[in-house]
Amino acid sequence: MPQELRAVEWTGESLALIDQTLLPQRTETLDVHDVDTLVDAIQRLVVRGAPAIGAAGAYGVALALIEGEREGWSQDEVRAAVARVRAARPTAVNLMVCVDRVMARFDEGLDAVLAEAAAVQREDVEANRAMGAFGADWLLEKVGEDRPLRILTHCNTGALATAGWGTALGVIRELHARGRLEVVYADETRPLLQGSRLTAWELVQEGIPHYVQADGAAAGTILRGEVDAAIVGADRIAANGDTANKVGTVGVALACADAGIPFLVAAPTTTVDLATKTGDDIHIELRGEAEVLEWGGVRTAPAESRGHNPAFDVTPGRLVTGLVTERGVLEVSAGELPADHLK
Ligand code: MRU
Repeated sequence: MPQELRAVEWTGESLALIDQTLLPQRTETLDVHDVDTLVDAIQRLVVRGAPAIGAAGAYGVALALIEGEREGWSQDEVRAAVARVRAARPTAVNLMVCVDRVMARFDEGLDAVLAEAAAVQREDVEANRAMGAFGADWLLEKVGEDRPLRILTHCNTGALATAGWGTALGVIRELHARGRLEVVYADETRPLLQGSRLTAWELVQEGIPHYVQADGAAAGTILRGEVDAAIVGADRIAANGDTANKVGTVGVALACADAGIPFLVAAPTTTVDLATKTGDDIHIELRGEAEVLEWGGVRTAPAESRGHNPAFDVTPGRLVTGLVTERGVLEVSAGELPADHLK
């Protein structure tokens, strides 16, 4: 992906979001001028990925202030609008963290809010770059082979899912830049195909060799020895290392554990939620049944069937070989995360 293409971009008066529901067929931008449109965009996954919705939420505070001024809202109404943005999706803690960070400057006015939102965005790109280098170093050492690596990933964690560059995909891009990447197995990521539509699209922009595979193929690919390591992102990491990420991730982690290969989680410290003790306390978003009962708007399951559609699952911390943040890699497969390293 060219560096200048940003999933989330402040235009000066509105928020430009690459419409990720349309990729890869169409590259279109949604220009967001009001809070309701932003909440809808977050919920429909026009913008998605934990750090990207964090950045969108940060600018959402500015949108609320501007809309409030335009519509003559009271302070309470502006704050209520911000609360709607903050609650648009429940699992990724980045959304809440970033909104709260910007809200700390709410009383200073629009310029301060925009400066803080820009800092959120800038720091996320910097964190991703750091994670890429730390993660690549760690993986090359852990796998300990001189040949280029074969990496499996799940969902989309690239520039589209962040403020730029990517978390797990950032590590993959770094390995590629070092000439140490053979191929990527990109899980298609059911039901909304973030892997086959978005990750594959980003990999094509980067000229990175890859296969798209069905989610159900992942465990077999790992157990057949066709993969050296798996790298995924995260939406919320509890204090004990339990990691919520796109549904299907835990199966990848179990297969990696069985095969004895590294399962690396790449996430900025804004994704770590030390106030959440374990994965049991993470609110897993349940999405509409139609996403699993239909295909392209056409009903595929019997009319009588009900759909079960959790957007995320929780990988127990004991299955996480390494957690790479912008501060380095923690090998945390047992026990509490070290709070002093993370905050
Ligand atoms: O429902 P999505 O597409 O927002 O889910 C995204 C994921 O699960 C990602 O792996 C996670 O947010 C990390 S993105 C760097």
